[in-house]
Amino acid sequence: MDNRLFFPATERNRQSIGEVLSKIQLKRGVILEIGSGSGEHGVVFQKCFPEITWQSSDPELIHRNSISSWIDHEDLNLKMPQPLDIDVEKTPWAIPSELLISLQGIISINMIHIASWNCTKLLFKESGKLLKKGQFVMLYGPFKIGNKQISQSNNLFDSSLKMQNKFWGLRDLGEVSEEAIKNGFIKEELICMPANNFSVIYRKVSL
Ligand SMILES: C[S@@+](CC[C@H](N)C(=O)[O-])C[C@H]1O[C@@H](n2cnc3c(N)ncnc32)[C@H](O)[C@@H]1O
Repeated sequence: MDNRLFFPATERNRQSIGEVLSKIQLKRGVILEIGSGSGEHGVVFQKCFPEITWQSSDPELIHRNSISSWIDHEDLNLKMPQPLDIDVEKTPWAIPSELLISLQGIISINMIHIASWNCTKLLFKESGKLLKKGQFVMLYGPFKIGNKQISQSNNLFDSSLKMQNKFWGLRDLGEVSEEAIKNGFIKEELICMPANNFSVIYRKVSL
C-alpha cells in the first residue's frame, strides 16, 4: 500500500539543508533523524549521501507508514532501515544496539517548535548520552534570537502554533544552546537559511 505523505516544506528546504549536510562532511555510519515526518528528507539525503545510513524515526504511526512507503518507492529497502518509534519524551529511546555502535550524529528538522519545551531538553539529554566526543546534533528550523522574533512571518507562525497548542512555539536559540551546553555540546556553527530559518550544529566536546 502506498502510504506516502507529501510535506510541501520539504520540497522547499531539502536542497539548502543538503548543502549544510555536505559541509559537515558526514562520515560512514548512522545518522539518526528525530521527528522525520513524511520521510521525504530521509530518502533524499540517503540518496545524496550513500556512504551513511539514514535512520528515520517518528512517534506517529501515520508518519512511520509514510516513511516506509517512501523507502519502498525509492527502492532503498536494502540501504535504509525501517523508521523507529521514537518520542523524545519517552526515555531512554529504544535504539537497536547495532545502530548505536555506528551512530555518528543526530538531526532534527522543524521539530522542536512543534513539541513542548521538554522535548528540546530531552533531545539534548538523550543525545548527550548517546553521542561520543566529536559527534554532532544538528537542528533546522525557525528560532527567536535574543528572545525576539526575527521577522513578522516568524511572529505570525509562532502565534499560529500557540493557537494550535499552548506548549508549542518558536524556541529561543540562546535557551536551546544552554540545553546543549548542559549536556556536553558546544554551538559550533549557526548557518542562516532561506525563509528566516537557521541550521545549528552542536558538537559534543565531553566524553
Ligand atoms: C513539522 S513536522 C516536521 C517533519 C519533518 N522533520 C519535516 O521537516 O518535514 C514535526 C515532526 O515532529 C514530530 N514530533 C512531534 N513531537 C515529537 C516528539 N515528542 N518526539 C519526536 N518527534 C516528535 C511529529 O510527529 C512530526 O513528524
